[in-house]
Formats: sequence, structure tokens, C-alpha cells
Amino acid sequence: MRLSDAKILQELATLGVEPQPGVALSTLTSLAIGGPTDLLRIIKHDSIPAILDLLDQHQIPHKFLGGGSNLLVGDGELPWVVLQLAKPDPDVILEGNLAHVDAAADLGRTVTFCAKHDLGGLEGLIGVPGTVGGALRMNAGAYGTQIGSYVEEVKVYRAVERKIEILRGDQISFEYRHTSFAPDDMMLAVTLNLPSKPYREIIQGIRICNEKRRASQPMGQKSAGCIFKNPPGTSAGRMIDELGLKGLSVGDARVSDRHANFFVNAGRASARDMLTLISNVRERVEKAYGVKLENEIVVWSA
Ligand code: EPU
Repeated sequence: MRLSDAKILQELATLGVEPQPGVALSTLTSLAIGGPTDLLRIIKHDSIPAILDLLDQHQIPHKFLGGGSNLLVGDGELPWVVLQLAKPDPDVILEGNLAHVDAAADLGRTVTFCAKHDLGGLEGLIGVPGTVGGALRMNAGAYGTQIGSYVEEVKVYRAVERKIEILRGDQISFEYRHTSFAPDDMMLAVTLNLPSKPYREIIQGIRICNEKRRASQPMGQKSAGCIFKNPPGTSAGRMIDELGLKGLSVGDARVSDRHANFFVNAGRASARDMLTLISNVRERVEKAYGVKLENEIVVWSA
């Protein structure tokens, strides 16, 4: 969606937002899929309520983009503008065992930054791509760690109340790849309470997780991590693998040969290719196991 009304553009500029016109979301998503739209980068959290009021007033549909690593975006011109937080410098501030982290901070860098200051707990999350805000939104987890376990408080833009609020960790429910935030809430910052641990010990934990990940997941390929949530007590990857579906392709969308719950863009896959592959695999798993796999990735259909 293109913003062309000079008055709106000027009001956005007053709020510190300069639209980047026609940005292909394929350049901002780890799957490298997604059509073009105007991108609004937000510099100051405080201006968010006014920016959203302005967009709503002019009936401009919008979506919030984090790191784009767990997301499948539709092809062609997109019917909404995209908002993304600009990363402040510094994006992590430490205060004893507390790490105050901006939602736009890179998750992996945050894990290693905290490790260098003898703050651990997050080792399992190393290698999970994306931002801290994105990880928080869906309670990202790996190797027995989930980010929600360390949340002291969260600064969030509450879409329904139309205001920025600070929530304590115990006011939020963190479940398997799910949180109690409303769909349009926008994560702004989080304070993590991390256990003290010597750097060497943390680094050893990080190395072990890195090795496990390298051994079982496709690294360096265009993917959005696991496509489906694991059904209770079982692994979606194992089920897909058992059906012999590794390598199954629709266009350039392909079930990874390394981990069957990762679907990779092996070239110039479209969203349509990827969605067809997802529904083919879901159908085959349902037929064989009677289990309907739920998406783990977020889909923004155009
Ligand atoms: N397996 C297979 N074939 C495969 C993939 C897995 O047989 O192609 C088997 C493995 O051998 C293992 C079992 O299935 O016995 C479980 O596999 P794995 O340890 O790789 O874990 P997973 O359940 O497939 C989950 C998370 C990953 C996370 C890993 C490590 C989900 C949907 N997936 O995968 O998270 O990295 O555990 O903790 O919860 C993600 O969220 O995007 C993600 C990749």
C-alpha cells in the first residue's frame, strides 16, 4: 500500500516517521518471500499511539513487523503498510541481574551480550533468529529454555486500550509458543531477570546448543524455523519425516532434507508455493496420523 496524501506524510514526519516507499518484504523476512509496501520506521516509542491514531483516522491498514524470521508474507502489492521499530543504541542496558532490552534488539546478540556480563539463562535461545520483541510475542523457546521464564516486565503498546502500558511478568501468561498478548499488541521493551553465571559456563552452554542446532537444523538456508507447532507429546518434524516427505517441493518451496519441520525457499519460492506446500503436508499428516498440525509461523496473506 502506498501513502501519497501529502498531509498524512507531513503528519507522519512530525511524529518522526519517514515512510520508505515500496519496500519488498522479501528483503526483510528470513524466508525471502513477500511483496512490496510502504515501511514506516518508528524512532520513538512515545509517538506510537499518535501514529496509530493517525493511521486509523485515515483508515490505513497496518501490521507490525519484528525481525521477520517467523513470518510468511503474501506475494504482490500488499494491502497494508508495515510498521517497524528502529533499533536504539544501546539496545540493552544492564542493572545488576536485570537486562533492559529494546524490542528491536537482535535476540542472539542480546544472549551473547548478557553472557559477557556473566548473566545466563538464555543459552538455549542462541541461534533463534529474530528480535527480542518477536521472541517475546510468541514465547520463543529451544533446548528447554523459553524467554517467558525470565520476564520481569514488559513495555507494550496495547492496541485495544490504545496506550503504552508496563506489565509485570506475572500479569502475562507464557505458554508453548503462545502468550496472552492480544494479536495487535506491539512489544516495545522487556526487562529480563537473569541468573548470574560465569561467562565460561554460559559459553559452554551456548556451544552445546549451537552444535545440536547445526546437527539437526538447516543453517544458512532461507527458512522461517519450524513451520508447525509440535502437537502435545510428539514432534511434527518426526511425523513429516516418517511419511518420507523430506525434499517434497512446490516450485522452490521445499521440505528441508535436514529437518522435516523446516520448509526452505530454495530459490525464488512464492508465498503461494509455500502455502500450497504447507497445506499438502498438513493434509498428509492428518490422513496418516489423524492430527491436524497448527501453524507455528505467522502468515500475512495479501
Ligand atoms: N526428528 C526426525 N526427523 C526430522 C526432525 C526431527 O526424526 O526431520 C526427530 C528427532 O530425531 C527427535 C525429535 O524428532 O527425536 C524431535 O526433534 P528436534 O529435537 O529437532 O525438536 P523438534 O521438536 O523438531 C523443537 C522446536 C524447535 C527447537 C527444537 C530444539 C517446535 C515446533 N520446534 O523442534 O523450534 O529449536 O525443538 O529445542 O517447537 C522453532 O520454534 O521454529 C523451532 C525450530
